[in-house]
Amino acid sequence: MKIALFGASGATGKLLTQRCIHAGYEVTALFRSTPPPHFLFTRPASPGAREPLNFKIVRGSAFDPSPVRQTIAGADIVLSALGANSLKKEDVLERAIPQIIAAMQDTETQAKPVRRIIVLGSAGALSTSLDKQPAWRRWIVQNIVYNTLLKWPVASQISQWNNLSHSSLDWTMVMPPMLTNTPGRGAYRIDGDALPPNGSRISREDVADFMMQQIGSPQWIRKGVYITW
Ligand SMILES: NC(=O)c1ccc[n+]([C@@H]2O[C@H](COP(=O)([O-])OP(=O)(O)OC[C@H]3O[C@@H](n4cnc5c(N)ncnc54)[C@H](OP(=O)(O)O)[C@@H]3O)[C@@H](O)[C@H]2O)c1
Repeated sequence: MKIALFGASGATGKLLTQRCIHAGYEVTALFRSTPPPHFLFTRPASPGAREPLNFKIVRGSAFDPSPVRQTIAGADIVLSALGANSLKKEDVLERAIPQIIAAMQDTETQAKPVRRIIVLGSAGALSTSLDKQPAWRRWIVQNIVYNTLLKWPVASQISQWNNLSHSSLDWTMVMPPMLTNTPGRGAYRIDGDALPPNGSRISREDVADFMMQQIGSPQWIRKGVYITW
């Protein structure tokens, strides 16, 4: 299995990288800066010896067509955990996702088109996301969190949703509430319609595991899926 990975250096992207490597997949990942050595080698096979991984690095920005095309070339699946480095307006998904979609759609005429993409999104992407929350919680999350504190990340996620859902690709957008760096529990709630009641957080480990499961599953193709503890 050949994976094209965007956002590999990020908090969730690192977990996806580890999981792809442990699964024995061939990974091509886009990095803006030189990745640290642990991306290049597995654990020592014997003292002093280090085994190179099946891990190819493309250097560049996801805003630029050429490195994006290089990253997805020959891939079976595209994984993205792209995001901004701050809560300010950075337009990362607004600029990167159209480049990735265009590069994938340009492979349509090839013998093996790259059609499948699984992205990390956010529960804030859709106005219906809070439909299963109690009214008081819906008001707080919508007005204080989504419309104010997370205004720009939410705008980016809305853009990601719009671009993917208008594409012809086999996309899946995984939509968690707040992400934590705590250990995964291996148990969580998923829902295709709205965030499950009182769902407020989930670990990046559980989200990464769920994204990996989607590689072999058609269940959420051309759909968003909410995930929360
Ligand atoms: N934080 C939360 O509670 C939360 C909740 C729900 C959803 N989300 C969403 O989850 C996503 C990922 O979050 P995260 O915290 O795991 O990631 P993160 O640590 O913020 O990492 C973001 C990744 O995107 C990369 N990136 C940004 N701009 C790029 C560009 N122009 N070219 C190439 N790579 C670029 C970064 O690369 P560099 O290392 O080079 O910067 C990094 O690898 C975001 O979209 C966020 O909105 C977050």
